[in-house]
Amino acid sequence: MGVSQHESGLQPGPGAKRAASGARPGSTAVSVSGVSKTFWRDGRPTQALHDIELGIASGEFVCLLGPSGCGKSTLLHIVAGFIAADEGQISAHGERVTGPGVDRCVLFQSPTLFPWLTSRDNVLFGPRSRGLDNEETRGRADALLATVGLGDFKDHYPHQLSGGMRHRAALARALINRPRILLMDEPFAALDAITREQMQNFLLDLWQRERMTVLFVTHDVEEAALLSDRVCIMSPRPGRIVDIVDIELARPRDEALRDTAEFVALRHELRKRLASA
Ligand SMILES: Nc1ncnc2c1ncn2[C@@H]1O[C@H](COP(=O)(O)OP(=O)(O)O)[C@@H](O)[C@H]1O
Ligand SMILES: [Mg+2]
Repeated sequence: MGVSQHESGLQPGPGAKRAASGARPGSTAVSVSGVSKTFWRDGRPTQALHDIELGIASGEFVCLLGPSGCGKSTLLHIVAGFIAADEGQISAHGERVTGPGVDRCVLFQSPTLFPWLTSRDNVLFGPRSRGLDNEETRGRADALLATVGLGDFKDHYPHQLSGGMRHRAALARALINRPRILLMDEPFAALDAITREQMQNFLLDLWQRERMTVLFVTHDVEEAALLSDRVCIMSPRPGRIVDIVDIELARPRDEALRDTAEFVALRHELRKRLASA
């Protein structure tokens, strides 16, 4: 499953190892098998994905890395259950994916918050819509807001928060539903460089504590190298996974890693592989 279908001939550099299979040992959180997707517009086809094989183990952090338009969002939306594949099977924790589910939560580039609700009420929106509004849920919302560094901004509205804060509020809003799988679609791409680095460090830290399964879409090589256990490199359209690279950098990772020779060499290696995808 998920075996590299394309041999670039490059030798893995420091911190990188070519993965032998799509899934690591342990329980499988996400399984994608033989997935293809073609969009039709005005009678003309656009093949977005071709024969995708991908397995993600429970608690693993996997990045989809590829150029714009290669089908990353399409694949993420198929796993989310927002759109159907033309061919192939998708399952999450052994259950066939036929639509969206509370086990899978999607975070987009622009954080989804209701502008008329405070941070706290945004976080509580999901549980309340399922009839859950008790002391325990409110306590959990406050704890999550503190975890994402918004303890003092519970009563602020989205327009009173910075870009990074809005993302963290959206993350708390997702986490309160206890999703087993987080699907993130270039969540930090629209942020300024400093805030983006802060959010990457924040996500690293959060993941190291919570260990949820993450499928993270990016076109940013450094972001993929810093965050992932494995990087799946996609070819230009139609998107195929052409290379899977194990990121062997020790954990816990922090921002100091960015300046190490090992990290710089890994970034270079990934960039080379992406160029030949
Ligand atoms: N709903 C749609 N209708 C028609 N074409 C689409 C639709 N969604 C995506 N596409 C096309 O599929 C290809 C892959 O898109 P996408 O998954 O958004 O790429 P990425 O996220 O890697 O930038 C692109 O050529 C895009 O134009
Ligand atoms: Mg996209």
